[in-house]
Amino acid sequence: MNDSLRGKIEEIIGKINTVDLLVEQGCTSEVRKIETIKGLYLLKSAFKEKYRMWLKEEARILENINIEKQIPVPDYYGFIEDDNSSNLIVSFENGTTLTTALREAKSLTERKSLIKSFGLFLHQFHEKEPIKVLEQKNDWLERQLVKAQYYVENGQTEGSKELLNQLIARKPFSVKQTMIHGDCTTDNVLVKNGEVKLFIDIAGMTVGDPRYDISLAISDFVDDPELLNTFYDGYIRYRVSSEEFHYFNDGLYEFF
Ligand SMILES: Nc1ncnc2c1ncn2[C@@H]1O[C@H](COP(=O)(O)OP(=O)(O)O)[C@@H](O)[C@H]1O
Ligand SMILES: [Mg+2]
Repeated sequence: MNDSLRGKIEEIIGKINTVDLLVEQGCTSEVRKIETIKGLYLLKSAFKEKYRMWLKEEARILENINIEKQIPVPDYYGFIEDDNSSNLIVSFENGTTLTTALREAKSLTERKSLIKSFGLFLHQFHEKEPIKVLEQKNDWLERQLVKAQYYVENGQTEGSKELLNQLIARKPFSVKQTMIHGDCTTDNVLVKNGEVKLFIDIAGMTVGDPRYDISLAISDFVDDPELLNTFYDGYIRYRVSSEEFHYFNDGLYEFF
């Protein structure tokens, strides 16, 4: 971290005592734990243009939804851009990602309890009345397909033109739109005391198709009927069909 960035961070959260790179890193950013006299913070930094845009969006959304305090996410402290990087500062949350919690679980009972809590957590989120700041004018799926097209044309995705054309031609029937996380994998929720309690990595949070969240949420255990049913013991409002799962998880998600 250069002196200029360090200075700007200290203006927001006070004098830095320690900076530690986290063992568990994400795919689009570098994450560090920062300790200052005021407390513990997480610094999330992005360097590639695409990921810097996502981080800016994450900062904007976090700042807005923090005001309402209705959605469980980290506290927002600031967003700093310089020539080479974009940097988000949020509260450091004690917890582990659900991916890690599931890996470290010592029994099937513990795994099932975590998965049911994930289902319930997502169910409660999708059932909430959407908050105004997350609403957008155009249809969510349309917006995703337009973005996917842009990424294809600019070589910024692994998804192919052929796959995109299939997704455009075979859109699923529409369902009631809800607030969605927008990248709802087991990597992007935090577990505290054995329960899923918090969303992280929320650049895609908006009002959209809840089947996208469900599909990404179940992707690690979709082939295990017992675990899948456990998820739906918590998430009782809707069950995605196998076609819907493939459309969202193996189709649309390829582009993001
Ligand atoms: N507020 C936070 N408190 C503690 N750890 C966090 C926090 N936000 C993210 N992390 C950790 O950093 C990792 C990467 O963060 P994430 O926002 O998911 O980045 P990416 O967009 O690169 O996937 C997470 O898997 C988690 O371990
Ligand atoms: Mg992530």
